[in-house]
Amino acid sequence: MDNLEDQFAQEVKDGLTSQPKTLSSKWFYDERGDDLFVQIMQLPEYYLTRCEKEIFSERTEALKAALTDGMDAFDLVELGAGDGTKTMHLLKALDPATFTYRPIDISSNALKLLVERVGKELPAVQVSSMQGEYFQVLERLPNDRPKVILFMGSNIGNLLDDRANSFLKQLSAAMNLGDRLLLGLDLKKSKDIILPAYNDSQGVTAAFNLNVLRRINRELGGDFDLDAFQHQPEYNEEEGVARSFILSTQEQEVHLAALDLRVTFDEGECIFTEVSRKYDDDSIARITDHTDLELQEKVYDSKGYFCDAIFEKVAS
Ligand code: AVJ
Repeated sequence: MDNLEDQFAQEVKDGLTSQPKTLSSKWFYDERGDDLFVQIMQLPEYYLTRCEKEIFSERTEALKAALTDGMDAFDLVELGAGDGTKTMHLLKALDPATFTYRPIDISSNALKLLVERVGKELPAVQVSSMQGEYFQVLERLPNDRPKVILFMGSNIGNLLDDRANSFLKQLSAAMNLGDRLLLGLDLKKSKDIILPAYNDSQGVTAAFNLNVLRRINRELGGDFDLDAFQHQPEYNEEEGVARSFILSTQEQEVHLAALDLRVTFDEGECIFTEVSRKYDDDSIARITDHTDLELQEKVYDSKGYFCDAIFEKVAS
């Protein structure tokens, strides 16, 4: 598929005509979605960002050593860079003469803000941003220096196990011997802590989830009535998987003009929109099965809620 708009249209069509209905969480992030996610990261219930921020601010030297020991010049590639608040601590600790910071994001809006921010706060750091989907962009990256790749925020948790594994296989294939990868991973813990993180009291997460319907209305001529749908999160402790749904509160029909499509909903019918996997030692060890990535180090926050795991590409 050549452009994002066509891909969005195709996926919405496929997702809303399948049983059960699905919409991928990657479509959450339009301008309003980016803004809502920034608000989510500040919510009292959303501990993930604060925990990883603590790792980046308090364990900076441990991260720096695990990521860059033995390298004299490298590209610091960040996948899904977002607003860069956490990364800034690492950027500050690194010698600007030794690296180029290469943030990659699907959102040109988020990238623009990030590049401005680094330019202002750390003018000595060389920044070269690239917009697009990870692998398309990775292929276009220069290949003349070792790479340190950051994939933070438990973003990989949006992919269920097989897809996460094939994602890491592809990523590993794009890496050279000795390249490093940092994966931010939210850890399994009690439902009492995880569920509120996806069902905050201010309703920001609900607005974030439902925003995909608003986007469909705007970009695909839809007539979703947002008041007739609600945010429906769940967490399965055994599995360690949080899922979000959009529930239709009544029987209804929605028309998507750009797709020439009518979609009917039963009362209580759900659209599956997001999965957020939580990890433990076993699943962290398994995540790189059948890749040439070897686990080097795990760095935790003081509560032990979150883990940044560092891998190195080794010979197969
Ligand atoms: C950005 C994918 C890590 O799954 O925790 C936050 C997105 N969804 N609240 C997550 C999200 C609902 C977030 N990730």
